[in-house]
Amino acid sequence: MTTSSSERGVGLGMPELPAPDYPDDVRTKLEADAREIIARYPDSRSALLPLLHLVQSEEGHVTRTGMRFCAEVLGLTTAEVTAVATFYTMYRRRPSGDYQVGVCTNTLCAVMGGDAIFEELQEHLGVGNGETTDDGKVTLEHIECNAACDYAPVVMVNWEFFDNQTPASARRLVDDLRAGRPVSPTRGAPLCTFKETARILAGFPDEREGAVEAGGSAGPASLVGLKLAKGETPTARVVHPRGAVPQDEPPHDPSPGEHLSSHDAPQDTSASDPSHPAGPTAEEGE
Ligand code: FES
Repeated sequence: MTTSSSERGVGLGMPELPAPDYPDDVRTKLEADAREIIARYPDSRSALLPLLHLVQSEEGHVTRTGMRFCAEVLGLTTAEVTAVATFYTMYRRRPSGDYQVGVCTNTLCAVMGGDAIFEELQEHLGVGNGETTDDGKVTLEHIECNAACDYAPVVMVNWEFFDNQTPASARRLVDDLRAGRPVSPTRGAPLCTFKETARILAGFPDEREGAVEAGGSAGPASLVGLKLAKGETPTARVVHPRGAVPQDEPPHDPSPGEHLSSHDAPQDTSASDPSHPAGPTAEEGE
């Protein structure tokens, strides 16, 4: 997907012209939405984050025009708005696809297979980090920990969770997204496009039937500690690789030795590598 130098945030040594304004009809609509958002806050500048989501919902990313709009309606400088928009990674600075596919490659997900998933998707889609497929459907990117480590490795599509992924399940996921086949997150509301997600994040109601009720909550794996604290018997193991277990099936208690996902299988480690046997671990000072 081709982007201009200003969209990439790359300066060419020339002073940038003021950002163009929105067409009148778009500006009128955005101003009405912005008034509604600003009215929620005692101090108008507190509305900057949802306003950035609002302009992102219009164009799919935060453009210079969007930042200029935010500055004008909030009485801020464009420098102040730019500082915020470029700080938070939820605001995209480049045109992107309908589905933002984020692979968690933070420590736990990485060692549980996140790195392998990211490599698989890069090769399968033919795009690198932050790049979009030619059909404009999928933008692939690394993401940081999304506080779902008990379901590692995690993939997020437009910020909805797809738990316990494998390279094969992640490949199926992006194929389904590109083909327009229905895809359901492991938890939470059904998927919508990135622009629609941005409007919800701006604070406007999700009016899709059943979406709010499907909001999701902590999954069984996250609640094991709570159950133990209450003296209850926790579910032994809860793993739902995408496509392996129907969504409406109750949690499965596997028998000992039963492997539900790839990361339960014995892993090659230095201890199992005869050419690099692990020696005894020495404590500091020994
Ligand atoms: S490390 Fe991936 S969700 Fe925490």
